[in-house]
Amino acid sequence: MAKEKTVYSCTECGGSSPRWLGKCPHCEAWNTLVETVPDAPAGGGKNRFAALAKSTPVTVLADIEATEVSRAPTGIDELDRVLGGGIVEGGVVLIGGDPGIGKSTLLLQALDNLERAQIPTLYVTGEESGAQVALRSRRLGLDHSQVKVLAEINLEKILATLANTRPAVAVIDSIQTVYSDQLTSAPGSVAQVRECAAHLTRAAKASGTCIVLVGHVTKEGALAGPRVLEHMVDTVLYFEGDTHSSFRLVRAIKNRFGAVNEIGVFAMTERGLKGVANPSAIFLSQHTEPVPGSCVLVTLEGTRPLLVEIQALVDTGGPSPRRLSVGLDRDRLAMLLAVLHRHAGVACYDQDVFVNAVGGVRISEPAADLSVMLAITSSLRGRALPKGFIAFGEVGLAGEVRPAPRGQERLREAAKLGFSVAVVPRANAPKKGSRDLEGLTIHPVDRIEEAMEVVRSLA
Ligand code: TYD
Ligand code: MG
Repeated sequence: MAKEKTVYSCTECGGSSPRWLGKCPHCEAWNTLVETVPDAPAGGGKNRFAALAKSTPVTVLADIEATEVSRAPTGIDELDRVLGGGIVEGGVVLIGGDPGIGKSTLLLQALDNLERAQIPTLYVTGEESGAQVALRSRRLGLDHSQVKVLAEINLEKILATLANTRPAVAVIDSIQTVYSDQLTSAPGSVAQVRECAAHLTRAAKASGTCIVLVGHVTKEGALAGPRVLEHMVDTVLYFEGDTHSSFRLVRAIKNRFGAVNEIGVFAMTERGLKGVANPSAIFLSQHTEPVPGSCVLVTLEGTRPLLVEIQALVDTGGPSPRRLSVGLDRDRLAMLLAVLHRHAGVACYDQDVFVNAVGGVRISEPAADLSVMLAITSSLRGRALPKGFIAFGEVGLAGEVRPAPRGQERLREAAKLGFSVAVVPRANAPKKGSRDLEGLTIHPVDRIEEAMEVVRSLA
């Protein structure tokens, strides 16, 4: 294929330059120029209008038939849950996650299921050889798998194979290894990843093949990785969980065909990933007796409540004490410490503060605030929270405790798992008369200092 002349365009202002420069000549931002293939020959005047004349007529929205998308379940319930019911014809799914977390394993299992259901598949591997993929499939017990495998990293060849074999679903593992002849940049660069993903997306829409792109999250937090593709694709799934524990979470952070924030929970076993149908209690560490610095939170991920233990360690710090958080937002932690000091008189300014959400789960909802603050206070004072204690609720800058969405469901889950004491925002407490929920005593609070008072009275 003849090489088109590439240009360098700025990711900030969209301006372009015929050669690479460190600084964008238009907006003067640094390191923003990436190589791109121009869409059409850049002609001015007449040519531009000629292109406009070819545009298609517009349609009134009400006249467009709203056809339901057709889905094929992958047969892996937890994956289907995050996909919104299964793979969608012409849909493009991006699956991101740290290396070694289980992306290839899950997708191979899914493809094998689909192939068994007579849905033609294609697994394009750019990271591993066919033999390595075969080795994995044996390990997964898929000895007679009919999944078609293509070991290729050249975009043009992949597109040609897709056009020839017309699979219903194709996995590209990974998008960072694919490169296009059209660009001179190295595979894995922002330019290559974007260009290749754009072509594959177009191919998916044109042919109806569902394309699943695998993307590694890079150390720097994913530039040149999945992040640059999020806007192009229909569904974005991220793997979470630390590779040391066997649990893995797959979270939908964008889904044009289903709910977002839905999660699928898996356990990595000797024979691949197995769905965990009832995951609510897996993120609790098993203390026989309550320990200081630990508070259980009921978080609501997608449609399912999850109980997650929040751990805090507060220890005398140096001249500039550290604030570190794993699985929780660090800026939010700083804010909560300020609220604790100002409204509850708990001072940590000369202390190192570490917080962690057990099990490698990432919690972004503010309903975790109250648990985080109670865990910090518990660690600072060296006093454990009562046995069977849970808390949730957002805490505002004025020290008020705000309700969390769907509080009843959270409380019911905690009661089901045998928790006995709960401190929750007043609006989340059941109406008078039903303060006791199957053995769970509920203490509604309006303010953070009130929550502290309740905890003190329970000790
Ligand atoms: P993999 O799917 O290769 O990760 P990714 O594609 O996200 O980089 O998963 C690799 C890890 O999973 C590796 O550490 C081995 C482990 N594993 C199992 O524990 N059991 C299995 O059955 C398989 C196939 C892998
Ligand atoms: Mg892999």
